[in-house]
Amino acid sequence: LSSSSTYTVPPSVLLLGPDNAGKTALLTLFERGAKPSATHTSQVSHSIELNASTDSVTKASFRNHDDATGTHTKFFLVDTPGHGKLRNVAMGKLARTEKTKAVVFLVDAAALGEQETLAPTAAYLYDVLLFLQKKATSKGKDKASIPVLIAANKMDLFTALPATMVKAHLETELTRIRASRSKGLLDSGVGIDDVGSEEQDGWLGEYGSEKFTFQQMGEFDIDVEVLAGSVLTEEPGADKWWWWIAQRI
Ligand code: GTP
Ligand code: MG
Repeated sequence: LSSSSTYTVPPSVLLLGPDNAGKTALLTLFERGAKPSATHTSQVSHSIELNASTDSVTKASFRNHDDATGTHTKFFLVDTPGHGKLRNVAMGKLARTEKTKAVVFLVDAAALGEQETLAPTAAYLYDVLLFLQKKATSKGKDKASIPVLIAANKMDLFTALPATMVKAHLETELTRIRASRSKGLLDSGVGIDDVGSEEQDGWLGEYGSEKFTFQQMGEFDIDVEVLAGSVLTEEPGADKWWWWIAQRI
């Protein structure tokens, strides 16, 4: 190839989150532009190519993908399996996908009020955020601050927590996880001013803070936002998530 015809890989947006959150349903919704299709538990990753319109009046809607009148940005949307036993598949995508521009972490807002859903969801999110924090502070050529959308799905169900509660529940649980993972460090009697950078590297968010907040990820230029939506119903639908993605690719 001559140097004038440079081949560019479209950016990727990764769909992460626990099993049953609605990742595959969301992918099929964006792909079809209409009703999502029935899904099964995913065992492998799957990516599709989409276009986000940037200059038409419909740019805020995912239905713009079949509007050919405007200028489009091409990107890959990558679905991953959420099952805990396949976590290496999803984390591998996070580690290896070239040009990842954003992560959409889907959660089931209707089940997040239950500790049995909240605990594994937060544990997974903790691993993702810590990975991104390390990536943002690394000195290599892979250094990047990747924004995260926490997409609170299934708002059509009456048990669904509103976005503010989803955020609060996750922050509380992430605080708990952070405390238990750093217990060895705190028990050793070393003051927080004395610890080495290695310990600090394993701490999510603002070092030594009592409570974890998503805002602390801002220290690493990682923007974390929580937005409510639904894949299966028109209202509130998935347009807000689409618009969040479209602005980051
Ligand atoms: P894994 O592949 O196991 O990681 O799960 P997944 O995140 O891909 O979930 P999937 O898309 O298969 O959806 C799981 C179930 O949730 C399906 O029965 C969907 O129909 C349902 N679901 C997805 N979105 C919504 C929603 O907005 N509201 C309701 N009520 N159900 C939804
Ligand atoms: Mg799936």
